[in-house]
Amino acid sequence: PPLHTLLNLDEIEAAAKSQVSKKCWSYYFSAADDLYTKAHNTRAFRDILLRPRVFVDCTKADTSTTLLGHKVGTPLYVSPAALARLAHPDGEAGIAKGISSFGAMQLVSNNASMTPEQIVAEAKPGAVFGWQLYVQTTRSKSEAMLARINKLRDHFKCIVLTLDAPQPGKREHDEKSNLEAAGEFVESASNAKTDAEKKPGGGGVGQQLFWGTAADLTWETTLPWLAKHTDLPIVLKGIQTHEDAYLAAQYAGKHPGTVKAIILSNHGGRALDTAPPAVHTLLEIRKYCPEVFGAVEVWIDGGVKRGTDVVKALCLGAKAVGVGRAALWGLGAGGWQGVERTFEILQQEIITCMKLLGAKTVDDLGPRLINTRIVERD
Ligand code: FNR
Repeated sequence: PPLHTLLNLDEIEAAAKSQVSKKCWSYYFSAADDLYTKAHNTRAFRDILLRPRVFVDCTKADTSTTLLGHKVGTPLYVSPAALARLAHPDGEAGIAKGISSFGAMQLVSNNASMTPEQIVAEAKPGAVFGWQLYVQTTRSKSEAMLARINKLRDHFKCIVLTLDAPQPGKREHDEKSNLEAAGEFVESASNAKTDAEKKPGGGGVGQQLFWGTAADLTWETTLPWLAKHTDLPIVLKGIQTHEDAYLAAQYAGKHPGTVKAIILSNHGGRALDTAPPAVHTLLEIRKYCPEVFGAVEVWIDGGVKRGTDVVKALCLGAKAVGVGRAALWGLGAGGWQGVERTFEILQQEIITCMKLLGAKTVDDLGPRLINTRIVERD
């Protein structure tokens, strides 16, 4: 269907499903075990109610903000997700092109299907990228990649260290479709593997990509190592409790110039099923250690499908909100133009929501505009 006839993210996903390979659909769609956390991620947003104020002049609503000190046109960003070219040859560069008119930030996966150099080759001046790192068991491989990113610092403004997947979750849709494809190996251009590094036997695409990823990361050893190999700000992705958020904030306080943001995320429900939606973690932080918000920027992702979801997260103190699958489905639905349509839909929904709430700017959004009673009962 023509992209302008697709009106919401579910319709984009359905259009993508009819166009991409079964392998691609299964890999993107899949989540751990019974997909409970994946569903809960979206439901948690819906259970927060809005409290619109009236008699406020909202002729215009301005979505611009800053992330790590960089000006962005919207608090909406692209979460790092592997293998965009499974959906469309435009790949990760197509995502960059699709979001360019919104001034959104793009986080690029360690397992991207294009190299970082290829992705930024035609990037718009001022476009902000981040590089997501899965530390490899062969540390020299990660060190070499960090050196490449350091050279591309006109574009890459942070290193996103993913912590919630020291082991891939059990993703049965992915594993099943790969069984049907007889375990054919899928390559990542950013993290190319030698034959010796390839996972023997089956498993899903997720397991194949994971092979070679280190599971021995700790607060004590990993961050000092990382800070030695980059002076870009570090973003810790996959925080799921207020305790870990607090540790991150403490680390940031003791080691200025290292950790600057945390991403509350459960990997789109793809790691540990029945792990909490990011909104729950955000509420925990508000309750037990609100000082975290002053120490690091708090970003969140998982389950975002509507502009209202984004606005609710901002009301709770999130500085930015990421979409993983939505960008990939946009790509599957129509290459870079599909990504553009996806962001256009979300961005218009955010603006509509802000105007109807009586909020002119991102700074106007706060807890007074929402009611979290239903989620807090969970
Ligand atoms: C991911 N995610 C992910 N995260 C990461 O840190 N590195 C990665 O390589 C990937 N790869 C990846 C592939 C695919 C197909 C998906 C769907 C997700 C997780 C991603 O960054 C993000 O946390 C979730 O996608 C957010 O949830 P939604 O928006 O997909 O519901």
